[in-house]
Amino acid sequence: MAATLPTHSLRHLATTNPSLHRLQKLRFTTSLACLTHDPQQQQQHNKSSSYFPKRDQTLELECESLAFKGKGVCKVADTGFVVMCDRVLPGERFIGRVTRRKGTYAEVTKVKTISPHRDFVDAPCEYASYCGGCKTQNLIYEAQLRAKEQQVRELVINFGKFSDKDPEFFSIMKPIVPCDIQFHYRNKMEFSFGSQKWLPKELLEERQDGIENYALGLHAPGFFDKVLNVNKCFLQSEPANMALAAVQDCWRDSPLGLSPYDAHSHTGFLKHLMLRTGRNMKTGLPELMVNFVTSSYRPELLKPLVEKISAIPEVVSIMNNVNTSVGNTSVGEEEYTLYGKSTITEILRGLMFQISANSFFQTNTHQAEVLYKLIEDCAGLRGDGSEIVLDLFCGTGTIGLTLARRAKHVYGYEVVAQAVSDARRNAKLNNINNATFVQGDLNKVGENFGNSFPKPDIVISDPNRPGMHMKLIRFLLKLKAPRIVYVSCNPATCARDLDYLCHGISEKNINGCYKLKSLQPVDMFPHTPHIECVCLLELS
Ligand SMILES: C[S@@+](CC[C@H](N)C(=O)[O-])C[C@H]1O[C@@H](n2cnc3c(N)ncnc32)[C@H](O)[C@@H]1O
Repeated sequence: MAATLPTHSLRHLATTNPSLHRLQKLRFTTSLACLTHDPQQQQQHNKSSSYFPKRDQTLELECESLAFKGKGVCKVADTGFVVMCDRVLPGERFIGRVTRRKGTYAEVTKVKTISPHRDFVDAPCEYASYCGGCKTQNLIYEAQLRAKEQQVRELVINFGKFSDKDPEFFSIMKPIVPCDIQFHYRNKMEFSFGSQKWLPKELLEERQDGIENYALGLHAPGFFDKVLNVNKCFLQSEPANMALAAVQDCWRDSPLGLSPYDAHSHTGFLKHLMLRTGRNMKTGLPELMVNFVTSSYRPELLKPLVEKISAIPEVVSIMNNVNTSVGNTSVGEEEYTLYGKSTITEILRGLMFQISANSFFQTNTHQAEVLYKLIEDCAGLRGDGSEIVLDLFCGTGTIGLTLARRAKHVYGYEVVAQAVSDARRNAKLNNINNATFVQGDLNKVGENFGNSFPKPDIVISDPNRPGMHMKLIRFLLKLKAPRIVYVSCNPATCARDLDYLCHGISEKNINGCYKLKSLQPVDMFPHTPHIECVCLLELS
């Protein structure tokens, strides 16, 4: 019996996709799974099945590996009982307190480190141990990559049911592509204003009321109402950090009369500060959009901030999205330009893209070049302009447009209307006339979906985290396009969908008809648990 890990990350998906109930029944197996047939492991398991730590009990633990989503996997000495802990890293010995029991395992929080993990490096960011963004900044980058690669491999074996005993397995599973820029790679960050500053335990008595308690930064993990104040973020660009510092420098000044939005009383003005970095088409230098999300339209209140920020040379656009709802979203019902232009530009694979405050764009431009090159290579277009590409979950059309140059026609489908109009605008901007973008919900594809376009030679599918709906999987299995390039930001749902496409869906009597030719993990977001994969499937 292998040590088991939680399926919590997938639980919410099951509500939208019944096929995922199957996924819930499965358990992640860790690297410890290799001990399955070890008699000592069996003995441990026998002890483990009768052992369960009590809530609030403290345990001395050692982190053995990182599970999907970056939690540390540990086993209680002599029992083999599995506990999961956030913010511990492989090899780290620590004291953990049991917070909750969850099925066959327990969750603990770290009380203190006894000895650091084996690949320890100093995190350059002062917020690294609190902020929810970077979980592994003090793990040497090579070890981050090893952990991500291992997670993908285990998911593909345990969820995808691909065997590592298959001689082809090792040529299919490619080593992870590192990101050679590990800091300042994000072109978009969204900070929140809050009336309750989150402080680590050791600083709690310094808490003050009123303006001193105002914060601008990132939501503390697990809190919708508490904000960790951040003066500088190591993931965003330098010009974005300059704009953040300029706002931090003055937004609490009483004469300005600015107040943060309070998530409880639903009062206050400033909700979010979004910073997006693009590139000037002529000079290639960075250009910055600053977007204030506010609860009402009061440009006179923002004027002093606008004056201060517009003095930063890279700032070319200051926007105001007005969102009157009580929700946490940054998309406004109304949008106003307070300074400069309403869009910034970026170049990807030689194409130009116009980015507005709310349009989707790959958040790591540098690594998106690498990702899109891999997608192009997998698509393997002949380049004679004879092939049809179906671009599912096309967003603002970036993948389809980069392929259009070598294809006969690209058909893109996407649920968000704004993204579809951005895709059409991007096609025009780049003089691409052989791409059609259509708004549609791919979770609802019916029998006649295939009548809307000619039979594709290549399907690109790039769903968001829940992966593909069963209706779409069925459609693809009937469509039988010669080649599918599956791009995924969630290796768990990716492994499940690969299983369906290759091995079929036995409970529905549906046969798979694809062969997995390659699976390439790509690190798009160093220091975070996110993993991207590009998979090539060919009709078998
Ligand atoms: C991971 S993004 C990929 C975007 C694009 N391929 C790119 O590389 O920029 C996933 C896209 O799927 C869209 N999407 C999510 N659910 C969808 C659905 N049910 N039907 C169609 N599109 C959907 C999202 O709006 C988002 O644009």
